[in-house]
Amino acid sequence: MRSHLLNDLTAEHYRRSVTEGVERVAAKLATTDRPFTGVTVDALAPGIERIDLDQPLHDTTAVLDELEDVYLRDAIYFHHPRYLAHLNCPVVIPAVLGEAVLSAVNSSLDTWDQSAGGTLIERKLIDWTAARIGLGPAADGVFTSGGTQSNLQALLLAREEVKTDSLAKLRIFASEVSHFSVKKSAKLLGLSPDSVVSIPVDHDKRMQTVALAHELERSRRDGLIPMAVVATAGTTDFGSIDPLPEIAELCGRHGVWLHVDAAYGCGLLASLKYRDRIAGIDRADSVTVDYHKSFFQPVSSSAVLVREASTLRHATYHAEYLNPRRMVQERIPNQVDKSLQTTRRFDALKLWMTLRTMGADGIGELFDEVCDLAAEGWRLLAADPRFDVVVEPSLSTLVFRHIPAAVTDPAEIDRANLYARKALFASGDAVVAGTKVGGRHYLKFTLLNPETTPADIAAVLDLIAGHAEQYLGESLDRAS
Ligand SMILES: Cc1ncc(COP(=O)(O)O)c(C=O)c1O
Repeated sequence: MRSHLLNDLTAEHYRRSVTEGVERVAAKLATTDRPFTGVTVDALAPGIERIDLDQPLHDTTAVLDELEDVYLRDAIYFHHPRYLAHLNCPVVIPAVLGEAVLSAVNSSLDTWDQSAGGTLIERKLIDWTAARIGLGPAADGVFTSGGTQSNLQALLLAREEVKTDSLAKLRIFASEVSHFSVKKSAKLLGLSPDSVVSIPVDHDKRMQTVALAHELERSRRDGLIPMAVVATAGTTDFGSIDPLPEIAELCGRHGVWLHVDAAYGCGLLASLKYRDRIAGIDRADSVTVDYHKSFFQPVSSSAVLVREASTLRHATYHAEYLNPRRMVQERIPNQVDKSLQTTRRFDALKLWMTLRTMGADGIGELFDEVCDLAAEGWRLLAADPRFDVVVEPSLSTLVFRHIPAAVTDPAEIDRANLYARKALFASGDAVVAGTKVGGRHYLKFTLLNPETTPADIAAVLDLIAGHAEQYLGESLDRAS
């Protein structure tokens, strides 16, 4: 069994195994002609159930053959130009190379004595990101597992910065289309069930600052304590960007922590054309960035950044076995002092390899391309009488629904759109997402693949219309 341990004696085995795996994936990527096979749970589950985990195959080739059946054949392929569903980007090759290196070396970024150079690389990337945001000389941050964790940590710091014994009085203000992790964080932080005040959005799905001002004042009047405002720079559904300068102004006036959730919109930090869309982000107290959404990085790659490094102390615990307090005096950089995690992947390496190979402009160029594609998609949808499209994109999502010519019943239109999404998924021809707007079912394209063309968008719209019309036709047959 020792032949499976990666070490000086097994370097050749490692090279062969990994190369074989890479060859399989490369062949798969080269020949996958649809984002999904359309396999059902019922069809896939028995093959996985049948496998006896106590009966190993011992042989890499056999394991990869089996993997083909239980995973590779039917996986959802984000690199395919007709995968248009969630906030999953195709990944860049330098980052995948980074992934291979980091898992083989297997550094853990909690302490210097488990990572050495990895710690310094992560710190440099945090400084780089903070400088791109414009957070100032005292900024700091740490890599996290994703936007959910980044939002949680930012709100933990905000909570700890408020001096109160009464958690029940704390209030967080976020737009009605902010990410659900804000509410989840509030729960995890022990705040009351009504602690997240939902601020209405305008026609473009941006937080209404007049309503925010009103709610901030009302909270104070009611003896409540505004703990944080969460502005979203790129909402999950609409890609809308809250008016950051006005929100920062209000936060300054009320002395409230401003967290900017730029999990999605962070791609604009590298943009060559649209950086001004997140003007005002430099006034945040904390920022969430998800490199795995808009920097073309493999999952996971995310960070939370703060304006004042000292606020990260709220996440610090000193354990004698790991990061004793004396190490701070000895100036030993232990990233666990800033993190909610202990053992932690060296995800920063992927971004490092990306920036050292392509440069930030390379990432920005790709992100600009998908923003341009979304603008083109919006023009297509707006000109197509078969569809209703919700907002002109600020980033790269499109929320729309099929409006059949002869149908006026909103519930029937809902059913037709739900059916179209399901049927499309089952066909594997394309994958799209869905959401609700004003209580009605809509469909969503999240465009993160620069290889997707306007022709792909037009073709998928035709497929959707075809499925919806088929549903309505069958529904008429059923009724008659
Ligand atoms: C605006 C926003 N914030 C936070 C998150 C959560 O990020 P993650 O899925 O990386 O935890 C998402 C995910 O879609 C998001 O869109």
